[in-house]
Amino acid sequence: MKDGLQVLSSVVASQLITHGKYGGVVPELASREHLRAIVPVIREAMAHAQCGWRDLAAVAATEGPGLVGSLLVGLTYAKSICFTHGLPLIGVNHIEGHIHAVIMEARQEGNPVSFPALALVASGGHTHLFEVSERMTYRLLGRTRDDAAGEAFDKVAKLLGYGYPGGPIIDKLAPLGDPKGVPFTLAKMKGNPLDFSFSGLKTAVLRHVEHAGMEREIAGRREIYAANPTPSFDEIVSATPQSTRDLVASFQHTVIRELLKRVRDAAIEIGAESVIISGGVACNSGLRAASAAAQIGCPVYFPTPALSTDNAAMIAAAAFPKLERREFSSWDLKAKANLTLAV
Ligand code: KG4
Ligand code: ZN
Repeated sequence: MKDGLQVLSSVVASQLITHGKYGGVVPELASREHLRAIVPVIREAMAHAQCGWRDLAAVAATEGPGLVGSLLVGLTYAKSICFTHGLPLIGVNHIEGHIHAVIMEARQEGNPVSFPALALVASGGHTHLFEVSERMTYRLLGRTRDDAAGEAFDKVAKLLGYGYPGGPIIDKLAPLGDPKGVPFTLAKMKGNPLDFSFSGLKTAVLRHVEHAGMEREIAGRREIYAANPTPSFDEIVSATPQSTRDLVASFQHTVIRELLKRVRDAAIEIGAESVIISGGVACNSGLRAASAAAQIGCPVYFPTPALSTDNAAMIAAAAFPKLERREFSSWDLKAKANLTLAV
């Protein structure tokens, strides 16, 4: 990345096919795949950006949160590049990366985010609401108490016999169903009303599956995925009766309502000038459409789909303000499975 604004190249090595067979991320396989991919990916990124080591001002790497084996691969490689070429190292929080993907793209569009901003980060591991100040300081306003929103998409998809990751499949199926077909209730939060909970909804889907006697239909879909982990969408649709399309649409509708209700309340609470919605779940087309209609009261910014799910450009974007402040990391920077952005 150049000047904190221009993405010279963004190479993503997807592991979805590797993990898809197992219905979720297998940590051992993830670190092995990282090890296999890191050298060719960096080589490709440098070639595409037409730059050499001497053109770099610093190297940024994710320090956490995440799977420690995978983090270790990236961080160790980043350290070795820095050590060899005399460059400073910048450790970045993964969540901060998701937020900065949006801030950077808004600047690129000439429509910058105004502060204070409310940021929702909704991914496979996080569903967090932060207040973001102009100085890039963060205050945690609410978080999930159990499953993350993306995790709920993945678990419900798995429960219904679909593949991994579940979010994109549910997103594509939902428009074919009635979002009010199955009446799910919203979670009632004791304590902090800006916290989230998705495990009750997941259980409600399971109860519905049991009552509706869907086992055989689900087994049929599992067979399709066992034969081919990446079936065509037409194949998925024809294996999904209308009642299940309604169930999927109602599930997604409820997740969106849960997310946008907290976003609206939190935006009012902090007097937000803008709202940032990021993380893998920000890809969801139903969420994007509903947020436009939700009357949040200030502009809502989403990343482009390529920068919604995990990528390295967002880590560079988050590193740039640190580079400007010369906020570098030391050699003993550790990979951290649990790293909070703010409390
Ligand atoms: O940010 P991300 O790429 O990785 C993590 O940091 O977790 O997010 C991945 C998550 C997965 O749970 C995936 O199912 C979800 O984002 N996701 C979606 C969509 N695309 C990805 N959820 C709902 N709708 C989508 N279109
Ligand atoms: Zn992520």
